[in-house]
Amino acid sequence: MFEHPSDRVDLRSDTITQPTPLMREAMASAIVGDDVFGEDPTVIELQERMASIMGKEAGLMVPSGTMANAIAIRTHTQPGDEIITEEHSHIYVYEAGGFAALSGCSVALVPSERGIMAAEAVKAKIRKPSECSSHYPNGSLVCIENTSNRGGGTFYPQSVTDEIAQVARQSDCSVHLDGARIFNAAVASGMDPARIVRDCDTVSICISKGLGAPVGGVLVGSREVIDQAHRWRKTFGGGMRQAGIIAAAGLYALEHNRDRLSDDHARARALASGLQGIAGLKVDLESVQTNMIYLRTESPASEFVDKAAARGIDFLALGPNLLRLVTHLHITDDDIEKTINAFEN
Ligand SMILES: Cc1ncc(COP(=O)(O)O)c(C=O)c1O
Repeated sequence: MFEHPSDRVDLRSDTITQPTPLMREAMASAIVGDDVFGEDPTVIELQERMASIMGKEAGLMVPSGTMANAIAIRTHTQPGDEIITEEHSHIYVYEAGGFAALSGCSVALVPSERGIMAAEAVKAKIRKPSECSSHYPNGSLVCIENTSNRGGGTFYPQSVTDEIAQVARQSDCSVHLDGARIFNAAVASGMDPARIVRDCDTVSICISKGLGAPVGGVLVGSREVIDQAHRWRKTFGGGMRQAGIIAAAGLYALEHNRDRLSDDHARARALASGLQGIAGLKVDLESVQTNMIYLRTESPASEFVDKAAARGIDFLALGPNLLRLVTHLHITDDDIEKTINAFEN
């Protein structure tokens, strides 16, 4: 399971995983066709499988999580609308302003506790033109990120997701869930993914993060919404041809790499506990719910990065005093021990 072509301990992200030999075999033997003509049986199988797991009618394979979110936003909104999203969400912070550039939307930012928005806080940010003589933009889409990356890899209590969806409906808003790591949320909460996303109109799921596939994801929703999304995928240049070679990795990952996410979570907890109490570091153990650990540092975060890198351990500084370490399928118990040692000495 832990084949990795490097002897470094790479905790920068769960996106760095490399397809394992068995996954590569599945990719090599995939039956493919031209997916722009809708003729790739392996892509069709992945789309149907993901839609079925999520309890939705249809799926659309996309080259990246960012594109899945961009297509969802474009599908649910009109230029001049406003999206409502958490203030540190991937959609707001890390997608190059795509909501504005590609959909012509403004954004209302919702504060949160460890990345988890409260329904009341979402409600307070939804603006409707009718409320104020047409001065306001039309708040038409609420986005939820589960797990929340900048929140620490935290997952939503189900009651909160349900309440947010209810608030959105009452205000005539659609709901999109950025589920780049929805399987981490499902494994950590013990919930069926279909139940988690029951009240969401669309869900974007990455196969290239904890699941370990090399590229891409799937957007799921109703048949009607996915038909519209298909057109926007074309507009955004996301139609791929013999993409079954990638879809095969996704199908392999769904079969073999979902349950094992609990190992990543256990290792993240072990690492966080091991780092607790080390001088100059602050660990928020409550936020370590899945495969991420965020650490506050007293001295510049870059000093920790450089010191660990010299010992063969890589992680990211995501702020002047903020580190992020992420566990994934190439990280072993031994790697966790090595990492704790590197911080201690
Ligand atoms: C929460 C979240 N959403 C979306 C994405 C985007 O995925 P991609 O890198 O495939 O565009 C990421 C990437 O890390 C993410 O963490």
